[in-house]
Amino acid sequence: MPRVNSQQRVLSGMRPTGRLHLGHLHGVLKNWIKLQDEYECFFFVADWHALTTHYGEPNLFEENTIDMVIDWLAVGVSPESAALFVQSEVPEHAELHLLLSMTTPLSWLERVPSYKDQQEKLRERELDTYGFLGYPLLQAADILIYQSGNVPVGADQVAHVELTREVARRFNHIYGREPGFEEHAGAAIRKMGKKAGKLYSQLRTAYTEQGDQEALEKARKLLTEQQNISIEDRERLYGYLEGGGQMILAEPKALLTPSSKMPGLDGQKMSKSYNNTISLREPLDEVKKKISTMPTDPARVRLVDPGDPEKCPVWQLHQAYSDEITKNWVMEGCKSAGIGCLECKSPVIDAVITELEPIQKEAVQYEKDPDLVRSIIADGSEMARESAKETLADVRAAMGLNKW
Ligand code: TRP
Ligand code: SF4
Repeated sequence: MPRVNSQQRVLSGMRPTGRLHLGHLHGVLKNWIKLQDEYECFFFVADWHALTTHYGEPNLFEENTIDMVIDWLAVGVSPESAALFVQSEVPEHAELHLLLSMTTPLSWLERVPSYKDQQEKLRERELDTYGFLGYPLLQAADILIYQSGNVPVGADQVAHVELTREVARRFNHIYGREPGFEEHAGAAIRKMGKKAGKLYSQLRTAYTEQGDQEALEKARKLLTEQQNISIEDRERLYGYLEGGGQMILAEPKALLTPSSKMPGLDGQKMSKSYNNTISLREPLDEVKKKISTMPTDPARVRLVDPGDPEKCPVWQLHQAYSDEITKNWVMEGCKSAGIGCLECKSPVIDAVITELEPIQKEAVQYEKDPDLVRSIIADGSEMARESAKETLADVRAAMGLNKW
């Protein structure tokens, strides 16, 4: 059994591929800050994950890793409340990844939606690699090694948490069965009758060996329909389908983070790849410049031309930052050509600067003392390793390693 309370644990990681921006602050970090007070949190720099797409760029990590942790600290993620660490400092993740790779059907990885999607999207990179295919399994190892019951993710990552559940279930199924479990299950199958029993076994094989999700659904349905087996046997056969037995690895659930509404400077979602970001450590005069030169409703060529906020990316920023009074002022002033665009942008500029100023002040002390940041990472990594080692010891023992 996991020796920790999985329900109390949260794990999340971020790839160190560039500067954090307002989208990260509103989409991820504010949520982390809330979670760190309620759960036992593990937050890490996912440098191995970055390697799966950014191999061959060794300079990426040096700056981005420290910078990322500085940003976390500056916004209020606290090493007192959460273990802040770097993935590659905890090699136990890699060993668990290797061990889980033995029991994970290839098809489970091939059908993860992000696999083909990202290959399409990142065409300029050669992603026909073993590492890239295996990246969701690495993520599963990240989660499972801390017995983390909760994983805050955006919608795009839910499939990875789902895969993690299946990987855990399969592992528990193969290595966690109590003595006699197989025999009990066999007897229960016979009680179902020849036809249903045979169908159940076929469906179960299709699921456990080929990862056939549809077969799993069908088998569950079949069990629900059985009249002539006891409740106990039915439970046993549900368990036999997808794991059952003793729990060595805890199944996590996704804590779905509402997708960030933070718009970028062009009205699309704020993202590095759209080149529309305001970074957390953007010089404040640059913040002003960037917002001042943002595009507005193209209908407002001259000051006297009325506009429509719904067609303007600045309006989206007002929705993120302004109160009702200001928003009404924008609506009316824009539609009646009563205010100019620069005037309209001014409260947004002020709000973003007010938000970033204290963050940047906090960041300075860490920028000046990167060794302090390194020691925070070292402590966090140490804490993480201690916990990771416990799970790994259970996994190794269950798999029959270290028995000689
Ligand atoms: N895959 C995530 C991303 O690309 C980062 C990540 C790695 C992660 N391991 C994780 C997130 C574990 C949550 C839990 O953004
Ligand atoms: Fe956009 Fe404001 Fe200009 Fe209207 S007045 S177009 S909302 S910037």
